[in-house]
Amino acid sequence: MSDTPPPTLIRLGTHGPEVGPQGFGCMGISFAYGPSDPAESRATLERALELGVTLFDTAAAYGDGGNEEFLAPFFAAHRDEVVVATKFGLAIDREDRTKRIIDNDPAYIRRSAEESLSRLGVEAIDLYYMHRRDVRYPIEETVGVMAELVREGKVKHLGLSEVTADELRAAHAVHPIAAVQSEWSLFSRDIEARVVPAAAELGVGLVPYSPLGRGFLTGAFVSADKELGEDDLRRQQPRFTGDNAAANAALLEPVRAVAGAHGATLAQVALAWVQQRAGVHGVGVVPIPGTRSRARVEENVGATHLILTPSELDVLEPIASRVAGGRYADMSFTSAGRE
Ligand SMILES: NC(=O)c1ccc[n+]([C@@H]2O[C@H](COP(=O)([O-])OP(=O)(O)OC[C@H]3O[C@@H](n4cnc5c(N)ncnc54)[C@H](OP(=O)(O)O)[C@@H]3O)[C@@H](O)[C@H]2O)c1
Repeated sequence: MSDTPPPTLIRLGTHGPEVGPQGFGCMGISFAYGPSDPAESRATLERALELGVTLFDTAAAYGDGGNEEFLAPFFAAHRDEVVVATKFGLAIDREDRTKRIIDNDPAYIRRSAEESLSRLGVEAIDLYYMHRRDVRYPIEETVGVMAELVREGKVKHLGLSEVTADELRAAHAVHPIAAVQSEWSLFSRDIEARVVPAAAELGVGLVPYSPLGRGFLTGAFVSADKELGEDDLRRQQPRFTGDNAAANAALLEPVRAVAGAHGATLAQVALAWVQQRAGVHGVGVVPIPGTRSRARVEENVGATHLILTPSELDVLEPIASRVAGGRYADMSFTSAGRE
């Protein structure tokens, strides 16, 4: 298409694949945040690729493998253009959707990798993440199994989600880690204390997940607990519930002001912020916002050209410390919950 910019690829960390400067989080296109239109979701994936997005992020946990299956035809049509990232080690309890099952058992990892390969229809997973750390197993053992998958040609690069700085260092000593994927946004900055500096030192790329605060930073919610559908997973998150939701909505005023000054949207400011914040830390970054619509993927990719001024960054600086409610009800499976 005539408006398609030439994709400028960057390397994800020292040891990772080359990818477009913004990735795409695929979770919401078939899972988690309410109903989606499969045709529009497919069109959104195609539009993302046209706009230079090449890193597509999914997980075995998303819809019990359904998200990976949904993506398979898209990956088959564009295998040489896309970088396929998926994850093992987390499942949502089928009986109780508020419960998470975390498993890093070596046999489970191997089985999960085979299942993902089969559902995705690819010969190798380009970037394979440990989704959650299972503290019953030493991190060295878990990464050792992942490294075997690399040697067997089933996986190309390794990543870790929600690890602590110490876990990252221990893992990286076993096998080069391409990327850490953790929540990082104007609302969620806990990883800046230890994880981001460790990643910068080791040459590990950062893949911020939920860079739009799961939609909250776009100004979509006034009183989220009333606005979310019954089966929306955000209902389980403290920031979206009760009095917290309205209090957090009020924190967006400075984001709105900065957006107005640039003729940009709140989503674009949130994405530009995480990009520039990574620059401050000297860490390579590829955010993975997710959306179910073409118009919004165009808007989000547009943020890669937005530069915030130092005084605007100052205005946005205090927001995270004022957010009401934790990232998750149970923080023990996040990096911040263990360090
Ligand atoms: N490693 C982990 O543990 C973990 C955890 C969570 C997520 N992730 C990954 O990170 C990806 C992104 O995170 P996320 O989906 O949780 O949150 P997000 O990207 O912060 O926000 C997604 C939400 O924002 C909305 N949105 C997107 N662009 C918008 C725009 N320009 N204007 C207004 N609303 C917009 C989307 O709605 P519409 O779809 O209606 O546009 C959706 O509800 C996921 O897809 C997944 O791949 C990983």
